[in-house]
Amino acid sequence: MTTECTSIRGRSAGLLVIFVLALQIAGCGQKAEDGPILLKFPHVTAPATPKGQTADRFKQLVEERLQGRVVVEVYPSGQLMDDDDSLDALAFGEVQMIAISLSKLDRLTHKFQIFDLPFLFPDLITVERFQASADGKVLLEAMEDKGLRGLTYWHNGMKQMGAPVPLRTPADAAGLKFRIMESDVLQAQVLQIGGSPQKMALGEVYQALQTGAIDAQENTWSNMYSSKFYEVQKYMTETNHGYLGYLVTVNTSFWDSLPEDIRVELESILREVTEWGNERSETINLEDRQKIVESGISEVVTLTPDELRQWQEAMKPVWTEFEGNIGSSLISAALAARQ
Ligand code: LMR
Repeated sequence: MTTECTSIRGRSAGLLVIFVLALQIAGCGQKAEDGPILLKFPHVTAPATPKGQTADRFKQLVEERLQGRVVVEVYPSGQLMDDDDSLDALAFGEVQMIAISLSKLDRLTHKFQIFDLPFLFPDLITVERFQASADGKVLLEAMEDKGLRGLTYWHNGMKQMGAPVPLRTPADAAGLKFRIMESDVLQAQVLQIGGSPQKMALGEVYQALQTGAIDAQENTWSNMYSSKFYEVQKYMTETNHGYLGYLVTVNTSFWDSLPEDIRVELESILREVTEWGNERSETINLEDRQKIVESGISEVVTLTPDELRQWQEAMKPVWTEFEGNIGSSLISAALAARQ
């Protein structure tokens, strides 16, 4: 990325302007003759999480197989920037690859709202079947008009809920302030159970729980363990009510400007590490669940079938609310992946 390319960036610019400008910087990508191609890859979770491990594996394989031609710098734990900033940075070529939660793409497109519909996907196998279907693959291109391309999906896992009280039925959530990711579907989900939704970056959640600025949150076992939420949440209820996964995203013009042999090799390595990481994600989450149990600090609450049904019923109106945005045919395609 040249100075000229970065100088057009303006933090105060509106989102639309930012992404229109991003479209206009086609060709600003690094050329092979400039030396090794640098892929800066920031993300917000710890190195031990599914995303952290997969990003590190990607770096390792790229540097083994494209030695001297491509360098990958992975910045975990939000140490370079948070997710919101990473979208702008990607558009402007300040970073070259991100793996952002699908929920957080809500500000750019409603297409990924399908992944936030509560209780639509019962498990990761179903999610994977949908992502591998023609409908799932088309979604990778949902942000081409914003100058961004999805290369593949990475899993974290299914989400659970943490709170200061045992959440057995939706009535227990009434009045609780819930941290959510920046997603309107998740906002509607919390409203359906009588809670107060608070959109907040991951890096702010621990302190907000500790100080009582928020009461509750939803996340995967892996994120709740690695971000130490179990230290400040008395109860964690195993709801498996939603999916948390990522879109590995690049700036389309940068990606298309790479020498073809390098791009083909990078895409091949990505396919390999996606399979590797997605296979491990469930195990990592189960191990982290067990570590939370063993901590003795936070109690894991499991639901009876009747209690689980009450959560499903309470959240179901969210589907109708967002059907117009998402499209009933996409919801049907996701439902078809259940068999
Ligand atoms: C969150 O903000 O809770 C997640 O998006 C973090 C992540 O990347 O898994």
